[in-house]
Amino acid sequence: MQAGHAPTAPPVDALAGRFARVRSRTGWLAAPLSPEDAMVQSMADASPAKWHLAHSTWFLERFVLALQPGYVAYAPQWDRLLNSYYHSAGPMHARPQRGHLSRPTLDEVLEYRHAVDARVQARLQADGLDVQQRRNLLLALQHEQQHQELLLTDIKHAFWSNPLRPAYRAGLPLPAPAAPQPLRWIDADEALVRIGAPAWPDAGHFAYDNESPRHRVLVHAHALASRPVSNADFRAFVEDGGYRQPLLWLSDGWATVQAEGWTRPLYWDEDLAHAHTLGGHRRLDPAAPVCHLGYYEADAYARWAGARLPTEFEWERAAQGVACAGNFADDGLLEPAASGDARPDAPVQLFGDVWEWTSSAYGAYPGYRPWSGGIGEYNGKFMVGQWVLRGGSCATARDHVRASYRNFFPPAARWQFAGLRLARDR
Ligand SMILES: [Fe+2]
Repeated sequence: MQAGHAPTAPPVDALAGRFARVRSRTGWLAAPLSPEDAMVQSMADASPAKWHLAHSTWFLERFVLALQPGYVAYAPQWDRLLNSYYHSAGPMHARPQRGHLSRPTLDEVLEYRHAVDARVQARLQADGLDVQQRRNLLLALQHEQQHQELLLTDIKHAFWSNPLRPAYRAGLPLPAPAAPQPLRWIDADEALVRIGAPAWPDAGHFAYDNESPRHRVLVHAHALASRPVSNADFRAFVEDGGYRQPLLWLSDGWATVQAEGWTRPLYWDEDLAHAHTLGGHRRLDPAAPVCHLGYYEADAYARWAGARLPTEFEWERAAQGVACAGNFADDGLLEPAASGDARPDAPVQLFGDVWEWTSSAYGAYPGYRPWSGGIGEYNGKFMVGQWVLRGGSCATARDHVRASYRNFFPPAARWQFAGLRLARDR
């Protein structure tokens, strides 16, 4: 903040509306789950739904309400359980052991949510949040939207791990059928491109610290695929022996294929025609974007196809000025869907459906500075060993993403709704 600059904070009315929407949405997402469902942790990378419900509430308390002098925490004995990775906030329970926590019970966690909601709403109604608290409240709601997506991807993995393969929610609508679209190449000339978002909170629009500063990048001439890689495209790779050809794979990727016994995308049946979904066991739509791939698989597919993954800058350039429209969690399908959009001159499905792996390692932009205070641990300390994904998925809230948004995961992570779009040099 420059001297003489008026501090900016989100207006209370807008915050109150967003708070009500986001918090009730999380409750709706968790509603189909039994207390037993909500406690399952099917792998170390995933968390129980109950933990997501509690941790997102702890974040509100810790980074908004507790900034009030004299604030008395709802249940300080839970701090250790609900702190994810904020060393500045104290000790934490190991993530792989979150599934061991039968207490607090789901009912107690839901009571905790209601109590903290009431406290936040009272502060909002009394206009009793200072500038920093209002900023952190907006951040806490962005954070909760990330956990909404994780709740869905984690329960999908949990139910896939159960031989009964239950549906997460009965009656999820099936995507409307759409004719497969031919893959076209959209040429882009060499250009110096402005990448990233102005640093928040100085800029009025929220962006994570890892999207800033805005800076210039030289993007070389290339071509970007008009649409993401489809299930039919990826099936051809599998049937061509893609998972058995070491020359297609990065060394670490091939070692992972061997160690994990990968032969097809996560959740696909052996027949390559059906898959586990949040709506239960379903036939794969050949025209829908392929998903549940790790970076290694996306990279190997691109090599097999005679192409490569786009850089995050090539992706962002294509997405700049494009409306953030697509198949998001708000639409209620909770699976990627084929698009009927067949514009010949522009990439489609940049937003929604599947996160798109890029070839860019997740790192700091030139001049990057983490946020100050405890929230400085949010993004910056993870800038090693992960790759950037762009565009949001069918499990992402529509108003959570934008062209500059950078998601990131380790290269072997497959349980997110992650697919790919091809690029090539010209
Ligand atoms: Fe979190």
